[in-house]
Amino acid sequence: MAKNWTPDGWKAFEAKHLPKYEDLAALEAAEKTLSTYPPLVFAGEARALQAELAEVCHGRGFLLQGGDCAESFAEFHPNNIRDTFRVLLQMAIVLTFASKQPVVKVGRMAGQFAKPRSAPTETQGGMELPSYFGDIINGIDFDPAQRTNDPERMIRAYSQAAATLNLLRAFAGGGYANLRQVHQWTLDFMGRSPWAEKFKDVADRIGEALDFMEACGIDAKSVPQLQATSFYTSHEALLLPYEQALTRQDSLTGDWYDTSAHMLWIGDRTRFEGSAHVEYLRGVGNPIGMKCGPSLEPDALLKMLDTLNPGRVPGRMTLISRFGHDKVEAGLPRLVRAVQREGHPVVWSCDPMHGNVIKAESGYKTRPFDRILAEVKGFFAVHRAEGTHAGGIHIEMTWQDVTECTGGAVAITDERLADRYHTHCDPRLNAAQSLELSFLLAEMLNLEAEQRRAAA
Ligand code: PEP
Ligand code: CO
Repeated sequence: MAKNWTPDGWKAFEAKHLPKYEDLAALEAAEKTLSTYPPLVFAGEARALQAELAEVCHGRGFLLQGGDCAESFAEFHPNNIRDTFRVLLQMAIVLTFASKQPVVKVGRMAGQFAKPRSAPTETQGGMELPSYFGDIINGIDFDPAQRTNDPERMIRAYSQAAATLNLLRAFAGGGYANLRQVHQWTLDFMGRSPWAEKFKDVADRIGEALDFMEACGIDAKSVPQLQATSFYTSHEALLLPYEQALTRQDSLTGDWYDTSAHMLWIGDRTRFEGSAHVEYLRGVGNPIGMKCGPSLEPDALLKMLDTLNPGRVPGRMTLISRFGHDKVEAGLPRLVRAVQREGHPVVWSCDPMHGNVIKAESGYKTRPFDRILAEVKGFFAVHRAEGTHAGGIHIEMTWQDVTECTGGAVAITDERLADRYHTHCDPRLNAAQSLELSFLLAEMLNLEAEQRRAAA
């Protein structure tokens, strides 16, 4: 257990990107209500995820983490949950099938509501209002009432997270994830993508393997793993009053856990020495992610690892690099080497989204798909050169056929961005682009495996 730590100890530290609430009594009331509500996850589940991530640390397995940039109240719908889950499963199938490694599936779902923003205010038509900080804090519409921070929103976010998690658990364990279903997972509009054809190939081969196994007497009755899967939730632990209110002491071990999700991460803007966010997360037993951007120095990273994982527990820390396609090969090796030198066990994961945002000529914020792929390739190249395991991917994606990131096999042009640009925050990969990415990842994982075999 962390030394000298209490769930509210973060309040004595510097907190960036926390909202200011005008109505402090309302904030206190919301925190109090949340602290009496049931935990969303059980500590034992967080430990199970940590054990799976420990395997990835040791080079056995791959972390697939993805979902919306920001979940919203408006888009809360069962189909939305089902289809995001389905695309993640499809990606996991491609990765597992090609790499023959277990894939740890973690959604940016059931709690990914709060957003750090580069500017505290936004001006439109001469009117200046606070920025939108995510539905758990204020509303996206540009009017003064909507943009007021409202602590009651935390209660609504909790309810939405609870219902989302409930459905995810049902899908993961109730038969939807049955490997016999892989053919049915293909979404209609994916039919236009050449990768949908490739996915069908994979599905056919899995079907054949299952037929063969069934003939040998191995089926879902004897091996329940064939019809269920493990699926975990995660979000950026940004809104500390919410996280604190859901912090509970595990009755089995006495350790503290943030029961708002299985895994929490620290954003690139809140991962500095002396940060309230780091202070809070060092005391909870969940697996922790940390974004590593170009401004992170190796020494600062090592200090952070000593703070967050003093016991050097494998699976505790996932480092999510997000350099940008043109910076990853120059910037990442120094971090990888420092971590190797000090012997800190970590999962290295790649976020190819946040370092590759550009403003298109049309005025939309976008992420060119070829830059996303280039950062992924760069990430794998660095790990091949350093002899370390490229252990995961962290993406912002949606099942919807959106036009938010340019490029891809069904090419989205700059002019087409306006067609279906629906995101509440950053541009996301659509289902076809996500699938395309998973085939590239599979190829990269195979290259790594080949190199390992050659070295053995
Ligand atoms: C995010 O993951 O949505 C995010 C804000 O990322 P970063 O902290 O890396 O900028
Ligand atoms: Co984002």
